[in-house]
Amino acid sequence: MTQAAKLFLNFTAPVLRRFLKTHFSTFFFFYEHLRFKVFLILLTSFITALFDGIGISMFVPLLNSSANTNTMVSPAVQDNFIQKMMSELSINNSLNSILLFMLLIFIIKGITRFIEVYYRTLCRVFFMKRIRNLMVNGFERVQYAYFIQADMGKVQNTMTVEVNRAIVSFENYFKAAQAFVMILVYIVLAFLANAQFSILILCIGLLSNLLYKQLYKKTKSLSKDISVQGHKFQGFLSQFIHHYKYLKATNSSLFFVAKIKNKIQEIEKSQLLSGKYAAILTGGRETISVSIVILVILLQVNVLHGSMSEILLSLLLFYRALSAILVVQNNWNSYLNGIGSLHQLQSFLKELKGNKEVLNIKSELLPFKQLEFKHIQFEYTSNHSILKDISLQINAKETIAFVGESGSGKTTLVNVLAGLLFANKGELLINGISINEIDVRQWRSKIGYITQEQVIFDDTLENNITLWQPVKTLEQKNHFEKVLKMSAVDSFAYKLKDGLNTQLGNNGVKLSGGQKQRVSIARELYKNIDLLILDEATASLDSETENSIQESLNNLKGEITLVFIAHRLSTIQHADNIVLMEKGEIRDTGTFDELNKRNATFQRMVSLQTF
Ligand SMILES: Nc1ncnc2c1ncn2[C@@H]1O[C@H](COP(=O)(O)OP(=O)(O)O)[C@@H](O)[C@H]1O
Ligand SMILES: [Mg+2]
Repeated sequence: MTQAAKLFLNFTAPVLRRFLKTHFSTFFFFYEHLRFKVFLILLTSFITALFDGIGISMFVPLLNSSANTNTMVSPAVQDNFIQKMMSELSINNSLNSILLFMLLIFIIKGITRFIEVYYRTLCRVFFMKRIRNLMVNGFERVQYAYFIQADMGKVQNTMTVEVNRAIVSFENYFKAAQAFVMILVYIVLAFLANAQFSILILCIGLLSNLLYKQLYKKTKSLSKDISVQGHKFQGFLSQFIHHYKYLKATNSSLFFVAKIKNKIQEIEKSQLLSGKYAAILTGGRETISVSIVILVILLQVNVLHGSMSEILLSLLLFYRALSAILVVQNNWNSYLNGIGSLHQLQSFLKELKGNKEVLNIKSELLPFKQLEFKHIQFEYTSNHSILKDISLQINAKETIAFVGESGSGKTTLVNVLAGLLFANKGELLINGISINEIDVRQWRSKIGYITQEQVIFDDTLENNITLWQPVKTLEQKNHFEKVLKMSAVDSFAYKLKDGLNTQLGNNGVKLSGGQKQRVSIARELYKNIDLLILDEATASLDSETENSIQESLNNLKGEITLVFIAHRLSTIQHADNIVLMEKGEIRDTGTFDELNKRNATFQRMVSLQTF
């Protein structure tokens, strides 16, 4: 027996799980974020439907009382729940008291309906806020390793377009769910009024639902297609904006625009198809439903030889249920239209959670003294080492320069140093403590990082330097002035039309490359950092600008730790230590003179100026 039960369970459990997953995964998703509120939303509809059902049921005693004869009142009607309820509440059958009672019921229904709609809105707004916060926080806390391999078009699209589509889906889902609860209430009431008639309606109604199934399925898969196409479109668009200058300057935009237009056309096609299905559903729905009711009435009167009066009350309730069914079908279809976005949102949130940076804070981070790479190995993809057995020591306030051909792993190495990437083997020690045991965010806040890609926010010059920290006290003002001088921002800032309040525009289009780089340096210096990383920071500048920036940087030598990835002689000549890298390994270390004397590769690099 137990064997059979087990077999049965083994067979049914996966089926059941799949059923729950496909039909309730959305519900679980909403429940995860709204908890008990989900049930409250449904409860408000239950109460509304109850009052509505009772309210319209009052039409039967109302008709009876106005007819004032017994012709309308068959025993079946006299026997129904509404009549029982009225005698229970000792309401007499007079027209006045029935009307007054009806009025009372509909006033209460109006109030509960208000609560129903308003509460759903409250929940929707709450849900949206929560999801947006979760995404922004999640994205902020995600590992850098996830970021560099993620599809940014998809990420952007999810965080903007998909969220909005998902919110619309939320609304439709709960509208449908609420209407569904109402249908249940009406059907139960209709059963109480006339069971036989109700069963007939239900059977035929369920049969007609099979008709819709196929269309629903198509709508659902189309919705997913639209999401995927949206990601691609967004990705293309952001590349278009990002590389706009290049595409324009080389007149290559046409090729790229053709790609984008293709996508637009694909999206249009899918959306048209989806709209067609929606139109078929909307158009066909009422016709089919009314046909069902007419068919059942014909059956009741002609085949079962019943009378209209027997079914009057359940007919009224079914009529109510019918409009609720239309609401369910309408909203369910709209919900399915956006289900791709909901799924995308779910998987994105999961992805962010799964790739969250693990913080394992065991020791406090003291003022920076020394850092050490111990046999560090790093790979972006498994079995393909980019850094191989790197051992290296950097002391506070030292100036160190990494040189080596492109692709030798310099950027990767400083990313490990900055706690952006983590070694697959070996250890990075900061003040003798493994980076895995300190708060890596605290470590990063001691670091300034400047690359060739200038970071300029679309804001004022001052905010670009202070990162929105207030400059109010005398101390802050003095520090700010000092930073402007050190970075040589002061040499151009006051010539701008609005001085420090000048809006720098998108990506700082209003500044020259050298000016932008000075702003970047000023920003890092304003933070009071211990260690400044410059990854080919001046590579894109002309040599005159570079020299002037180099001068500002030379002033920092001995003040803070400087880590250069450099390609010009002027930058590395004064370094305390130069590390020569090749294919992910350290080939040699020493001062400029030492390396220039003993290392042939270095000599060649110096003579050709190819760092
Ligand atoms: N996100 C990444 N995924 C996979 N491989 C990468 C990634 N970034 C860099 N690499 C590879 O790692 C190697 C070292 O790159 P990088 O550290 O940028 O070199 P460098 O800064 O010395 O030019 C290169 O071969 C490059 O192709
Ligand atoms: Mg590099």
